[in-house]
Parts: sequence; structure tokens; C-alpha cells
Amino acid sequence: MTQRSADVVILGGGSGGYSAAIRASELGLSVILVESDKLGGTCLHRGCIPTKALLHAAEVADSARGAAQFGVSVGFDGIDISGVHQYKDSVVSRLYQGLQGLIAGHGVEVVSGRGSFVGPGFVEVDGETIAGEHVILATGSQSKSLPGLEIGGRVLTSDQALTLDYVPDDAIVLGGGVIGVEFASVWASFGAKITILEALDRLVPNEDEFASTQLTRALRRRKITSKTGVRFAGVEQDGEAVFVSLESGDTLEAEVLLVAVGRGPNTVGCGFDEAGIEMDHRYVRTDDRLRTNLPNVYAVGDIVPGLQLAHRGFQQGIFVAEEIAGRNPSAIDESGIPRVTYSHPEVASVGLTEEAARRQHGQAVSTVTYDLAGNGKSQILKTAGAVKMIKGPEGQVLGVHMVGDRVSELVGEAQLLYNAGIDVAVAASLVHAHPTQGEALGEALLALAGKPLHVRG
Ligand code: NAI
Repeated sequence: MTQRSADVVILGGGSGGYSAAIRASELGLSVILVESDKLGGTCLHRGCIPTKALLHAAEVADSARGAAQFGVSVGFDGIDISGVHQYKDSVVSRLYQGLQGLIAGHGVEVVSGRGSFVGPGFVEVDGETIAGEHVILATGSQSKSLPGLEIGGRVLTSDQALTLDYVPDDAIVLGGGVIGVEFASVWASFGAKITILEALDRLVPNEDEFASTQLTRALRRRKITSKTGVRFAGVEQDGEAVFVSLESGDTLEAEVLLVAVGRGPNTVGCGFDEAGIEMDHRYVRTDDRLRTNLPNVYAVGDIVPGLQLAHRGFQQGIFVAEEIAGRNPSAIDESGIPRVTYSHPEVASVGLTEEAARRQHGQAVSTVTYDLAGNGKSQILKTAGAVKMIKGPEGQVLGVHMVGDRVSELVGEAQLLYNAGIDVAVAASLVHAHPTQGEALGEALLALAGKPLHVRG
């Protein structure tokens, strides 16, 4: 049998891997994509898409429950969880079908099986060696746990939480990062009593402190309890409940425990170490052109240290395909990648936090916080929150941080402001449609340009 070969062989068909495959094929390169499970990876099957479907169902539940405040009479009879799963699964399955068609339409050869990297130019899948002039490692990530904290029964990761066939009466969420806050938000909307335990001193600790404060206040209003600065000691479970003990000596009880303490890279058992790939705590070390230490071997997505986000994976996949094709793309600025937590309310940001901006640019940094109380559309939607914008010494937007329902929709404009390095005085002359939540960005720009409109001076 002749050996299969291609210009580019990609290990892993998630966001990073499949975007590299599509772009490489668009650029005339032949591509073999190796996937052991389903094309689309975590994002499509166990991450972004199904969780956002749950969050949308949660929003519908909140709207139904709160309809009377808008003068609309509807009854809220509760959550039909199998109906929720049907809706969620139908979204995933439609997108999955579309993706399979897209990949086939680009002439990408998909090889099903668990592949491992054997050295520059070669991967092995179920005993077959496949040759690739260039190899892209894109094996993704999985939920992490803590030493001694075993997943099973009433102790869940997001994988089990996504398919849970009941709404717990109460739940403890370990980890107040993105996954923890999103599930806390869904379950609370579905009627559960939630306690979030976060080891650091604030929720969403990677965000600007402003966002943590706003979010904590909003979750408190929703009766979601968060305990920060707490240290997890252990968990026990029986047929009825989980019992979570803290180092302080306190014990908490609930129906389930969700472990959301981060995700770790899928790099063990993939041959990377053995083939001499330089690693960094189980992540693959790359330079800013996403090259590993071995010739013509690249890495993209969650196995590369940094933000573990699907859209970063897409961007890196496109970048590497263009690099291989000799297009010399610009290196990706990680700070320019938008970040969103899709809870109720949402947290969205791009660029630097105020702390990072002051570290990099000193005291010549100024900030404005515009409260959504002054934004007509936000008042119509009855959402609280605010937009904080950070200006650098040259008048450029260094960071935008937003909290409020639907603010994820504003992060597109915010990322343009940041990535284009546009001067606030110029940006302040852009007109925002009224009434939209986008006006909050306009108001922040006007204030930073020294001519605030709906803000008391
Ligand atoms: P994360 O890193 O966002 O949050 C984990 C949290 O757990 C941190 O706040 C950390 O301080 C806390 N923690 C760690 N050990 C702890 C302990 N022993 N006790 C209490 N708290 C502890 O990770 P998360 O939420 O698990 O998400 C994993 C990845 O997936 C993240 O990189 C995230 O960005 C990504 N993701 C992105 C989404 C989005 O873009 N909307 C949605 C879900 C996940």
C-alpha cells in the first residue's frame, strides 16, 4: 500500500485544527485531518455551542418568569430538561452536519482514529504512518480536577453537567472562572440554589477588577452565593448529596458539585514528549509564529499556553495555514482577542485590564466607567451593568470591559477600537444608533475625549 501523504497533516479536528485545514486547502495545499472523535471538538460538542444553548434556554426561563414586569402575562411552569437537551442537541447536530459538509467540500481528507506524532513529517494513526511536509498539532484540552478530587456520581465536570438529566435543587460550583459562572447562571435560572467557591479573592479573576465587582453584585441580586478566598479540602458523597469541606473547617452540602477549576492540554499519550517536542508544563511551547522547536511542526489552540478560547484556535489555525503557504501573516496579539462570559449578566472584554495598562504605560493611563443606568436600551431591557474604557498615553483605547445582559454583542466594536489602535478623539466622532447598548461605548469614548454627554461631570 502506498503511504498516505499531504502537504499538511493536522492532529485534531477541533476549532484550531479544522480552521487550519480549511484555510490551508483554500491556499491550494493538500490536507489530511486526523480526528479520533467528532469534527468540531470541544467547542461544538462539549463547550461553546451546547453551553450557550443552555444559557439561551436559561434566558428564556428568566424572561418567562419575569414577564410581568414588562406587563406581559405568561405562566412559568418550570423546566422540561429533556426538551432543553433536545433543543441543545439539535443545534449541535445541525452545526456538525454543516461542518462535515464544509470540510468535505474543501477536499480535506479526514482520517478517523487516534493519531500520535512520531517526528517531523510523520504521524501515526492506528498503526498507519501518514507523511506530511508540515504537521500541525491541535489536540485540544479537557476538564481538569484537583489532586484527590475524583469525578463521578454527584461530582461533575462540565462534560457531565451538560447532559445532566435533572435540574439539581442546589449545587456547589468549585471555581469562579468562566465555566463556573456560566453553569451557576444556567442552574440558577433553572431554579437551583447555587454556591460558588473561588480560591482567589474575586470571581472571574482574569478580568479587570471592575468586572468582578459588577458581576458579584449582579449574581448576589440573583441570590447566587459566592465565597471567594476559600480553600477546598475534600468532598464526600452518598446517594442523596455531596459534602464539600473547606480548609476553614466549614462543610457545605448540595445535590451536586461542579468542578470548574480550569482545563488542561491533551498532550499526554500523543507522542509529543517522546518525539522531542519542547513542552511547558504539559503545554506545547511555541514561538509567536506558533512554531514548535522541531522543523515544520506547529501547534495551535488549547495546547498552546494562553487563552483557551475557540476563536483564538480559529485565528491560530488560519495563521499557521497562511504561514505554511508563505503568506507571512501578522503575529496574533493575545490581548486583542475578545473574551466573553455568557452568564446573566454577561462579562465581555478586550485589551488590557487597568492593572496591566498601568504596569505597561504608567500613570499616563486614564479610565472612564459609564453606568448602563444612563443607557436607554439597557433600561428597556432592565439590565444593570457598566462599560469601563481605558485610554493610553497616546490617546489610544487600551482596554474595554463590560458587564450587562447582551454586552457580548458590543465586543466586536470594542475589539476594533483596541486592535486598530484608534485615537479616542477620532472614535468619539463615530455615531451610535439610538437607542442601542452600543451607545454606552460611544458615551465612554465621548467622556474619554473630554466631552461627556449623558454623564455628570
Ligand atoms: P478558568 O481558568 O476560567 O477558571 C477556573 C477558576 O477556578 C479560577 O478562577 C481559579 O482561581 C479557580 N480555582 C482553581 N483551583 C481552585 C480551587 N482549588 N478551589 C476553588 N477555586 C479554584 O477555567 P474554567 O472556568 O474551568 O474554564 C476553562 C477554560 O475554558 C478557560 O480557559 C475558559 O476561558 C474556557 N472557556 C471559555 C468560555 C467562553 O469563552 N465563554 C466558556 C467556558 C470555558
